[in-house]
Parts: sequence; structure tokens; C-alpha cells
Amino acid sequence: MERLRRILDWLDDRSGLLTWTRHALAHPVPPRTGWWYVFGSATLIAFILQVATGIALSTAYVPSSGQAYESLRFISEQALLGRFLRGMHYFGASAMVLLIGLHVSRTYLMAAYKFPRELNWLTGAVLLLLTLALAFTGQLLRWDQTAVWSVIVGAAQAGRMPIVGPDLARFILAGDTIGGATLSRFFAFHVFFIPAVIFLFIGLHLLLVLRHGISERPRKHQHVDPATYRAEYAALLEREGVPFWPDAAWRDVVFGAAMVATVVLLAVLVGPPHLGKPPDPSILEAYPRPDWYFLWYFALLALVPQNLETAVIVLGPLVFGAVLLLLPLFNKGARSVRERPLAGLLVVFIWTTIVVFWMAGVRADWSPDFTARPLPAAEVGDTSSIVVEGARLFHEKGCEFCHAIDGFGGKRGPELTEVGGRMAADAIATRITNGGPNMPAYARTLTPEQVDALVAFLGTRKP
Ligand code: HEC
Repeated sequence: MERLRRILDWLDDRSGLLTWTRHALAHPVPPRTGWWYVFGSATLIAFILQVATGIALSTAYVPSSGQAYESLRFISEQALLGRFLRGMHYFGASAMVLLIGLHVSRTYLMAAYKFPRELNWLTGAVLLLLTLALAFTGQLLRWDQTAVWSVIVGAAQAGRMPIVGPDLARFILAGDTIGGATLSRFFAFHVFFIPAVIFLFIGLHLLLVLRHGISERPRKHQHVDPATYRAEYAALLEREGVPFWPDAAWRDVVFGAAMVATVVLLAVLVGPPHLGKPPDPSILEAYPRPDWYFLWYFALLALVPQNLETAVIVLGPLVFGAVLLLLPLFNKGARSVRERPLAGLLVVFIWTTIVVFWMAGVRADWSPDFTARPLPAAEVGDTSSIVVEGARLFHEKGCEFCHAIDGFGGKRGPELTEVGGRMAADAIATRITNGGPNMPAYARTLTPEQVDALVAFLGTRKP
């Protein structure tokens, strides 16, 4: 014992680390902060969990387009604890996204971004964007149909931003189409670049938290005034402050432990996301269905009217980014959400939007319907061979997954029951070969004869 203490004393004398830690743990914080304040530390714990499970997974994962899928099969089916680790990494990511969302909502609702904590907010905003980037890049590493399609759709959307769009899409895909280079790029960002920047910003964020102290619970009629706030805060700590550990931090420990236990439980009971078929660009039979935290956004884009889609793609992220970054300009005034009803409504509105569109995404009649059965002969009507051939191709080439005719088929694209009445033959042919914003181009997968047959068939679909 005596020897251990001497070693520790020596370490502390030379490094100052123990004194510093003791000081950080004992520093006074505002009283009665309560359970609302646990989400930040839980996000940090989830991130550490991601680093640990991610390193373990990376020891067996092969980031090459030829082997990624197989190496994941190996991890899931044979490697020691592989399935468990994949599950942990997946549910850990879910936890991190959810918790950072709650943490941002909480600090916004309590106006913790006001003076003097503007930089706490800004570094937090960067951490939010980095977390989403981490989630987006991680999904592709699964390298199955679903993952690949989601990124194709994501890149196509980025490509529709004005001016920077095409370059942005090319940057995301590391080329004009998805392939091995895309995977390398996503891997590098997912395991090196983004985590490194996250570490840096977490460090800054925590330094700032220590510098300004944890924000106190907003009181009614409390107005933040930069001239007096610091003195008021110091007086509050003087009067009623409690030591960070254990008075405030025990809740962080309990909540963090419960979160980790939940992730472990889900990893064991539910397991990692199912690996879909290996990617094959010539198969259209894939759900462009991202992981749940992006599902709502895909559903939103799929459900908004065609002519508003570009506006949503361009304005949505711009407004969101601008609000995040400009918010600290409004750093004075009321903190209590009762005196900021609009802030409360905004948070309710955003969460409702996410939940509603997430549910729409889960129901997903906006995604292709791969169970569509071929049109019965009676529906086709016409018996000339070219029309019958067109009807067959309409099913076989996957058109019917997205287009319904007389109730047969999916709802991803417009119904084509009466298309012959509203579109000329050459317009239909052009659409098939060139595709559209949400329709693949078939120029390379269909022969001219097949296009003719499809056009002939669709031409007979009249009111
Ligand atoms: C992944 C889903 C998807 C598939 C598969 C698909 N389409 Fe489409 N299609 C759409 C969407 C969405 C639109 C409308 C908006 C657009 O162009 O993106 C559309 C538009 C059309 C239109 C124009 C309809 C109008 O009212 O403007 C025609 C005709 C058409 N598709 C025919 C076909 C044919 C023929 C095939 C098969 C060779 C096919 N589509 C495969 C999604 C799809």
C-alpha cells in the first residue's frame, strides 16, 4: 500500500494528473440539474464504445469491393464474438445518433447555448454533423445491396445541389459511379478522418464545459445579460453549488451504464443488421433503404411532391446548417422554454417530422415493391405478340416494382394505367432510355427491340 501511494505521489508530482482529476471531479456545479443533463456524457460513452468495437471489427474487415462482403460474412458467422461485436457496433451507432439528438434538443430547449457558452454550442454542432457523417459512411461499409443503394441515392441527392452538386457527388463516390474507390474513401473517412476530428472536438467541447461550468437549470424570468451573468453564476455556485462527483455525476454513471447494458442486450438478442445480397449494379432488386436514422429523410424525399423535391434537398440542409451555426448570435435574454414558446414548438415539430416520416419509411410503399406479380393476360388485353412481350418485360425488367398498372405493382413511380393517353410513344421511349430523377436509365440494359416492345405495351394503356 505504502509503496503504491509513493508511486502515485511521484506520478502526480511529475504530471499533475491526479490533482487535476481530483479537482475536476470535486468542482462545484449548479444544484438540481437532474436527469436532463445525462445525454451528453452518454453520447461520449457511446462514442468510446464505437471506437472499441470498431477497432475490433477492423481487425477482420477487408475494405475492398471484392472482399468486404465476404469478410463481413466471416465476421458474422465464424469469427469469435464477431456477430456480437457487429451488433454492438450497430446498436452503439444507433445509441450515439439518438443520444446526440437528445443532447442537442436539451441544450437548445434550455438555451444553454447563450452567453458565455456560444462556443460550447458551435463545437457541439460540429460534433452533431460529424456523428451523422460517421453513421452515413459506416453504413456503406456493410457493402450489401441496401448499403450500396442508399449511398447511390444519397450521392444522387447531393448531385442536385446547385453549383457544387456534381463535384460533391463525385467526391462522395470517389468517381462517377460507385465502386472499389468509393469503399476505400468511405473506409478512410469512417475509421481515420472523422473519428480523429471527433476526438479533437470532444476535447474542445469538454474543455469549454469545464471553463464555463455546466449551465444551471433555467429559472423563470431569468434573463442572460453578458454584463452580469458570470457574477450571478459564481454566486449561485457559492451559495448552493454541489461537488460534480458524486452529487451530479452519479446520474451520468447510472444512465451511461443502463445505455451500455441496453446496447449489449440488443446486440445479443437482436444481433447485427442482416447482410443483404452482395451488391450488383445490374440488379435493381434492392431497397434503397438506409439504416433507421436516415430512413425518415429518404421517406421525406420520396413523399414530397416532385416539383418541391429539389427545394427540399437544397434548402433543408442549408436552413438546418444555418440555424445550427447562427444560433449563438442570439446569446442574450430569456432561457426558460416557457418564455421561448417558439423554441419549444420547433423542437416538437422537428421530432414529430422525424417520427412521422420514419414511420412512413418503415411502411415504405414509396420504395419499390419486389413482390409485384406479372400482369394477367386479361389485364394486358391486346394479344399481338409485341404487346404481350412488352407486358412481360414490364414485369421482368423491374418496371412493375415501381409502377402500378390497374393496381398491379409498386407505388414508387407514377401509376401507368393510362400512360398511353397522356404520353406520346417517343416520349415514353426517351423516358425509358434516359430514366429520371428517381428512375434508373435503361439505355444500357435494354435492347432497342425491348424498348419498342415496352413502348408498344404502354401505348395500349389508355383511359
Ligand atoms: C426505381 C423505380 C423505377 C423503376 C424500376 C422504373 N421507373 Fe419509371 N419512373 C419512376 C419514377 C419515380 C418516375 C417519375 C419521376 C421520375 O422520372 O423520376 C418514373 C417515370 C416513368 C414514366 C413517365 C410517367 C409519367 O407519367 O410522367 C414512364 C413512361 C416510365 N417511368 C416507364 C418505366 C418503364 C417502362 C420502366 C421499366 C423499364 C420503369 N419506368 C422503371 C420510377 C421507376
